[in-house]
Amino acid sequence: MSVNFTNLYQLIPEKKRIFKKINSLIKNSKFIGGIELKNFEKKFSKFVGTKYCIGVGNGTDALEIAVKSLNLKKGSEIIVPNNTWVSTAEAVLNNGYKVVFCDVNLDDYSICTDNLKNKISSKTSAIMVVHLYGNPSNITTIKKLIKGKSIKIIEDCAQAHGTKFLNKHVGTFGDVATFSFFPGKNLGAFGDGGAIVTNSKKVFEYCLRSRNHGSLSKYDHKFSGRNSRLDTIQAAVLNIKLEKYNESNSRRRILAKIYFDNLKHIDSIRLFNLSKGNTSSFHQFVIRTKFRDKLKEFLKKRKVDTMIHYPYMLSELKFFKNTKKLKKSHNLGSYILSLPISEEHSKTEINYVCKCINDFFKK
Ligand SMILES: Cc1ncc(COP(=O)(O)O)c(C=O)c1O
Repeated sequence: MSVNFTNLYQLIPEKKRIFKKINSLIKNSKFIGGIELKNFEKKFSKFVGTKYCIGVGNGTDALEIAVKSLNLKKGSEIIVPNNTWVSTAEAVLNNGYKVVFCDVNLDDYSICTDNLKNKISSKTSAIMVVHLYGNPSNITTIKKLIKGKSIKIIEDCAQAHGTKFLNKHVGTFGDVATFSFFPGKNLGAFGDGGAIVTNSKKVFEYCLRSRNHGSLSKYDHKFSGRNSRLDTIQAAVLNIKLEKYNESNSRRRILAKIYFDNLKHIDSIRLFNLSKGNTSSFHQFVIRTKFRDKLKEFLKKRKVDTMIHYPYMLSELKFFKNTKKLKKSHNLGSYILSLPISEEHSKTEINYVCKCINDFFKK
């Protein structure tokens, strides 16, 4: 047996319907904006539970625009967890603010709230809360820590479609939140795509203009924005995929349970330790072991694809000019391993991956 990490073509549901829709959009020259985009923004804000949604070109632009929309003080510091995709920190730098890296906890790899206490300073204007791997960050504790302070929360939900904290979808807790629809994401488009969600009318109005050169209609520029629109074909694909999204997420949870059940007794592996009552969307299923490289090699020989998210911590990238060592995440990129998981993987495949891992540790 061989197990791919992911097979994007297989992940496309209702292929005939989607291809027919794309054909009709092309025939009618509907490429930018229009009813598909409006519908998607309406449906996605309903899905998340926010008042507003603005479709944009990708999750990185979503973050950059979201940070800008908050109009933070010049010279501000924004706290970013050390283990995340580079975009989260780029959005801070590209807006001219200072990145302050915070450690991550080793239970679910989201921001470490103990370390966060020490990172908050008089210059902190915002915290990037990343729901990494689809695991919800502890928003209650974060909110307690910033109570009474003028600190905004930006939720990076790029990996967290369908993730819930205390039964509420992530992205509804902060001042503004962002999503990515990169093809490999749980809810992926046929190219790049992203969205910003918020309950604030002011943020909404800013982001809506910002994605389209500061204008709402032709030649109505009110400020300098950019071109970052979610195009019509991507919106149409996402509209169809969103209909059955909850089902595909349930499937990931079933497969994650197989991993938990079959790997929990292996002493040399650490699994996610998720708080009860919250819902992960299992964008990645990440394990941690000091035998990571040998295990990865062994699985490759058994035709099981794995990946590493991420092989470096952001503070290790030189251009962020970070000099402080963060205890828990130091060198974390050498221990973590992402196992295959998607709604298209079969139980047999996941059981096979578990068997291979068990074989490796029995040797
Ligand atoms: C946590 C996180 N933030 C932001 C992004 C950026 O999204 P995009 O690739 O759509 O620009 C990603 C995508 O990989 C991500 O995983």
